[in-house]
Amino acid sequence: MTAHPERLQDSPDLDRSDRPLPQHVAFIMDGNGRWAKARGLPRTEGHRRGLEALRGAVRHAGKIGIDFLTFFSFSSENWSRPPTEVSFLMGLLKRFIERDLSELHEANTRVRVIGAREDLDPGILALLQKAETLTKDNTGLTVVIAFNYGSRDEIVRATRKLGARIAAGELSPEAIDEELFDRTLDTAGIPDPDLLVRTSGEIRISNFLLWQSAYTEFHFSPLNWPDFDAQAFDAALEDFCARDRRFGGLSVKVV
Ligand code: FPP
Repeated sequence: MTAHPERLQDSPDLDRSDRPLPQHVAFIMDGNGRWAKARGLPRTEGHRRGLEALRGAVRHAGKIGIDFLTFFSFSSENWSRPPTEVSFLMGLLKRFIERDLSELHEANTRVRVIGAREDLDPGILALLQKAETLTKDNTGLTVVIAFNYGSRDEIVRATRKLGARIAAGELSPEAIDEELFDRTLDTAGIPDPDLLVRTSGEIRISNFLLWQSAYTEFHFSPLNWPDFDAQAFDAALEDFCARDRRFGGLSVKVV
């Protein structure tokens, strides 16, 4: 995919080089709690402002023509947070879907959800399914919400699915290859992220898209997620555009 300068006109800070833009950007939205603490506010206010930053990133991606955005909204490890914070995050997801779904749909945005569904409240599960069903034929930006998501858990669940097919005699172990495994993950049909952004200065992947990020470029922003605005998004994209992606081969510059 190549950059489309005409689609970058709303982004004056972005270097309009002819380097390819990422097709898929994934975000680890870290630092909501620190953002709030620095202002003497409850952690929940950091998450609320974090949702605003997510909305801003969706708008910006729509303007410049990125096809897929993935947001790590609740990890399978986040259940260990205080119950009040867990229930606030559940409520935030609910409000996001209830309030934003029609607008996303009108903007031709597709919503996908990745993560384990078993432990989710039936009301939230129904809302997530509604969002996916309503937007399934949309052809614009795809917003992937990683909720109750852990990459190791996703890999184990995929392995169990394949194991069950083998046990049922439908599949031979030799038929399992990278392509089939990829299609068995929650992210089936979603291209691997080209760029993964983590905010708040933490430099680790925290069980996010481990299989899918084999050749992903990483950008670590010092900003806390609620401060991650269009300018910071553009800085991450510029950083990405300057990278030489070789996918294990040789640079195109090398002859
Ligand atoms: C990490 O910051 C952030 C989270 C665990 C939740 C992220 C959620 C949102 C940004 C909004 C929710 C969006 C949806 C769609 C529900 P942290 O709390 O670990 O921050 P800290 O490391 O500074 O404490």
